[in-house]
Amino acid sequence: MPTSTAVTMCGIIGYIGSMNASRIVLEGLKHLEYRGYDSVGFAGVLNGSLIVKKDVGKVDDVHAKLNFLEHNLNLAIGHTRWATHGRVTKTNAHPHIDCRKDIAIVHNGIIENYEELKNELVSKGHVFRSRTDSEVVAHLIEEEANNAASFEEACFKAFSRLEGAYAILAIDRKDYKIVAIKKGSPLVIGLADHGSFAASDIPAFINYTKKVVYLYDYDMVVLKPDPVFYNIENGNLVKVERPIQSVEWDAEKARKGEFEHFMLKEIMEQVDTVQRAADQDKKILEKIANEIKRARGIFLVGCGSSYHACLTASYVFSKVAREHVNVVLASEFPNYEHFLTSKTLIIAVSQSGETYDVLEAIRAGKKRGSKIISVVNVMGSSLARESDEFLLMHAGPEICVLSTKTYTSQIALLNLLAYTLAGRYEEGRRRLKYLWNVIYYLTSANTRNKIRKLAEKLADKKHIFCIGRGLQYPTAMEAALKIKEASYIHAEAFAGGELKHGTIALIEEGTPCIVFVSEENGKEILSNATEVKSRGGYIIGISPTNHEVFDFWIKVPECGTENPIVQIIPVQILAYQLAVLRGCDPDKPRNLAKSVTVK
Ligand code: G6P
Repeated sequence: MPTSTAVTMCGIIGYIGSMNASRIVLEGLKHLEYRGYDSVGFAGVLNGSLIVKKDVGKVDDVHAKLNFLEHNLNLAIGHTRWATHGRVTKTNAHPHIDCRKDIAIVHNGIIENYEELKNELVSKGHVFRSRTDSEVVAHLIEEEANNAASFEEACFKAFSRLEGAYAILAIDRKDYKIVAIKKGSPLVIGLADHGSFAASDIPAFINYTKKVVYLYDYDMVVLKPDPVFYNIENGNLVKVERPIQSVEWDAEKARKGEFEHFMLKEIMEQVDTVQRAADQDKKILEKIANEIKRARGIFLVGCGSSYHACLTASYVFSKVAREHVNVVLASEFPNYEHFLTSKTLIIAVSQSGETYDVLEAIRAGKKRGSKIISVVNVMGSSLARESDEFLLMHAGPEICVLSTKTYTSQIALLNLLAYTLAGRYEEGRRRLKYLWNVIYYLTSANTRNKIRKLAEKLADKKHIFCIGRGLQYPTAMEAALKIKEASYIHAEAFAGGELKHGTIALIEEGTPCIVFVSEENGKEILSNATEVKSRGGYIIGISPTNHEVFDFWIKVPECGTENPIVQIIPVQILAYQLAVLRGCDPDKPRNLAKSVTVK
């Protein structure tokens, strides 16, 4: 993997058809901004000439400066970037073009062999402008065009030489078509009567069509506007059929509606999303439960919030189903590969189903013949595709970079699996269905107003600590993550028992400490809270009942194994309100991206 140059994980969109491609690409880029928002670019063809506009900044700012709508085009591509290496500059922004200014490309992913390709192309006289790995694609297509009968043949030859992960859209000023390729990075095709789309994610074009084609790795599509599908895995351009599927959610779900931010909208949606997660096909759950029983060695893997959901599940699996599961951060999982056999079962948890580290983890397992089961929110995602079996969260699109509704859906689904494993599916489902009332109360205006008062007290704090024991420990970890991501206040979580082993030294007069209390471990954690309070800490209790140690109490009814679903909700709201009070954009926190498709 390149270390010194600019590689990107980003959002791409292209449209060809009778509607205004400039407008469609601009709208699409706005919907894809959650994937990256360092810089934005746009390319199209006008009267046989290539138009390229790009700069550093968010979509609205760059559009205000460069006017992406200047021309009414019938073909355009766009890119919104999240740089992982190298600098954020106008030159490094996509699209990238070839020497002759005939070809423009946008790319999401990493071209691992770009240095070797670049050296070869430079020796043939190509002049590079940027410090990205992506630019090599434009020059490679230009080079291959010398020996190709058509633009698609040149693209095919160029794409066949790429190593790494990529979703690429390429256009040529002389040709009315977009050539797309996918390997390792997400790319989905949208089909409408007036034209076709290719984009990193469905919200980019859901306003125009619900008919989609999920691509396989090495699929190359020529959008003309009637797309032709090929697969190039074996070095040949082989025509393939790909099924057209219908998206189950509509454009409204991908809009903010009356909400100021997606984060708040998605927090509020949990009233329904937890219910939908509970509506799983019992037969599939039982089949997976049998796989779990048969397995020798079970690993739950995930990143970020999904990892916290895995950790939560490990407690529930132990408690409810007496089943031992190992929990490993996906990025650390390859260190355990020595334990993997054909009897191992890996349960991978990922909202997007595209997180690089998660995909690498399951691939390590697959190499050793292990079985893969995944819990995903995105149908057709790479993870769902590469798993032996997958469970869908049915949470609808999550646009805010911070996970909220998909986190609680993951826990709901994994809890249901644990209950199924214990032969108590009906009980597990009933427990989740009961949460409707609780979540309705927790997201009500009353609760939100109360938490707003707390946010006002905490908005200027430098540190916030979160503590819990048992099932409340991963909840504390998720709470700290939400506060950090949304408000940039330093927050840290500890298991109650660990406080005395060091952290208590950090407590000063007024240091806020969020304490998660359940019936099961109330006594112990309240005793930890008292220790913090006697050193001056300001105690926020998330608890079914009030207690004298609390300076601020948020009532969350006792829900047993479902506590992790309900107890996190007030902190999601708190994190949101802290972000707003501190002038941060909770939907697009600095330096983060929704779907991390690079190492
Ligand atoms: C990113 C997001 C997190 C998310 C993590 C894992 O870091 O910002 O919110 O939890 O990726 O994503 P996944 O799609 O695999 O659940």
